[in-house]
Amino acid sequence: MIVLGAGGDLAARLLLPALAGLLARGRLPADLQVVGVDRAALDDATFRAHVRTAVGVCGDAEARASADRLAAACSYHQGDAGDPDALRGALGDDGEPVVLYLALPPVVFAPAITAAAQVGLPEGSRMVVEKPFGTGLESARELNALLRTALPEEAIHRMDHFLGKQTVQNVLGLRFANRVVEPILNREHVARVDVIWDETLALEGRAGYYDHAGALRDMIQNHLLQIMTLMAMEPPPTLHERDLRDRKVDLLRSVRTPDRDSLARESVRARYTAGPAVEGPVPDYAAEEGVDPARGTETFALLTLWVDSWRWSGVPFTLRSGKALGTLRQQAEVHFRPVPHLAFGQDQHPQPNVLTFGLAPDRLSLSVNVNGPGDPFTLEEALLEADFPDQDISAYGRVILDVLAGDATLSIRGDEAEEAWRIIEPVLDAWGAGVPALTEYPAGSEGPPVPTPPTGR
Ligand code: BG6
Repeated sequence: MIVLGAGGDLAARLLLPALAGLLARGRLPADLQVVGVDRAALDDATFRAHVRTAVGVCGDAEARASADRLAAACSYHQGDAGDPDALRGALGDDGEPVVLYLALPPVVFAPAITAAAQVGLPEGSRMVVEKPFGTGLESARELNALLRTALPEEAIHRMDHFLGKQTVQNVLGLRFANRVVEPILNREHVARVDVIWDETLALEGRAGYYDHAGALRDMIQNHLLQIMTLMAMEPPPTLHERDLRDRKVDLLRSVRTPDRDSLARESVRARYTAGPAVEGPVPDYAAEEGVDPARGTETFALLTLWVDSWRWSGVPFTLRSGKALGTLRQQAEVHFRPVPHLAFGQDQHPQPNVLTFGLAPDRLSLSVNVNGPGDPFTLEEALLEADFPDQDISAYGRVILDVLAGDATLSIRGDEAEEAWRIIEPVLDAWGAGVPALTEYPAGSEGPPVPTPPTGR
């Protein structure tokens, strides 16, 4: 594996700890070598020390115990990611296939891919591209065209670690391995779907990246749209790469392009102000180190999307994500319609059923109404819950394993990335034009006021 940007934040926080975690669990090929490439003039020993530190700070206990072993499999090559000679040097001349991992800031993606195309990667090689994949539809198209000059589509892994999360995968199991779920996931029975990723963490010193991204690009354009896609797509004939990703693209293609009027009503953008956040007091987002307040970056985004299809016509899908909120809430909820007729007394008001995919912690739950214990004509809500033990392998590690195995099922295909931008770009344009206006919420609060969920039909 050749890691371009090996000295960067992403490699230190996510990639190196994930590799150490996989190594600890015996999941990496025994002969895997990791060649770090970056601009700093380091020798192998200094880079190995960096690897040990990164794993020590960001890895779990097993990963930390394997930090030395991972470091021993690492070497370093100084060079610029866009320099073909640097890549030649890192490749060596044994002709073995590599995984070229672009752990780079997006501005360097194009030069790095161009260099890879120029050098020519050995047969059987793969490339991993981190998010954000482009800044809009046009740039995603350009990046896709450039990638195709380096490798075939099957060998390109656009990373979205949410696809490696256990409960995200449980969406597939629950929908497509049970007789009782799939038949009711449609407009006849579902009132609305909410995909929620509320974090208590604030900026975590990531202004350099986050202030250019914001919650919409950071979470909704990729992770939350992916969850929505898995929840709403038609059943694929198999879960193999092509069948699954074809169905996902079909769904994305049927999401209506948001217009300004609906965005004015059905989207919210906001940023936090100083407050006693759960992880400790934070300043105004605008006053965080490295933030340019004039950019108006949102730390909270909410967006309602509509799927134009027989199955979902009139059912709102609301995606929301925010930082520095008072309550950690990370789940996808299917809210069902009320029963068509209630035989119980007028004083009984049962809540419609809700099916919840808890993403952190991993939990599945269904609220149902049952007879109360005392009076059989009194209704009470009961929760059917299943908790899943923590995944042994991190979501990130899970996707890396598939990359090493050459399986692109859990990676984003080029056309999926473009469709996601087709949906999100008009939102960015409207928000850039002040529709709706940027609002604020105190850190540690429940977030800005949001519109009442649309009722659909
Ligand atoms: C990342 C985002 O992709 O996902 C972060 O950049 C976010 O802002 C993170 O906090 C959440 O995912 P996880 O699985 O790391 O909690």
